Amino acid sequence: MTKTKAISLVSVLAVLILAGSWSYLNLVRETQGKSYWEWHNLREQGFEQLRRELRPLIDVAKGAHFNAEQVAAQAKKVDAAAKAIPTLFEAVAPAGAAGPEIWASSSEFGQILNAFLSKTSSLSTNPPATAEDLRAAIDAIQLDCAECHRNYRD
Ligand code: HEC
Repeated sequence: MTKTKAISLVSVLAVLILAGSWSYLNLVRETQGKSYWEWHNLREQGFEQLRRELRPLIDVAKGAHFNAEQVAAQAKKVDAAAKAIPTLFEAVAPAGAAGPEIWASSSEFGQILNAFLSKTSSLSTNPPATAEDLRAAIDAIQLDCAECHRNYRD
């Protein structure tokens, strides 16, 4: 190996080690008693719970048997799961698929989240009486998931 090659190899390694330690240090950084990584894990669990609770309603919207009482009960669970989300974003902890733009001053994240929460809230307090109403409500909710993910989930 020539001297130049050895020098460039060492520089590449140094850059990799620096970049690696920077991301590692960022993930173990703590805010409000938890590391960024823990905040990310809690957010992921919160969204997975939301998706789990929404699933039965999506099935009904897609044609499974419509039972108004079951739909109303499930809607309450969806809303409860949705209401657990905002606190998971109170700490500024960019990690995982949640980038710093969520917490930037120009961010519209809060508006999208509020619009989303008002939909799950009305789904719960004023549950759909027909499969068609349910379908419309689920479509609108899923548009919010998609809009927020497009803009704020890397
Ligand atoms: C206001 C913004 C916003 C809304 C609304 C939203 N999400 Fe997300 N979602 C995110 C962000 C940001 C992450 C990444 C969190 C992280 O990595 O720490 C995420 C992550 C997830 C994850 C974790 C796994 C993955 O793919 O990253 C799931 C599952 C998920 N969302 C499902 C949903 C569903 C289903 C809805 C609608 C019912 C929804 N989300 C609505 C912003 C949102």
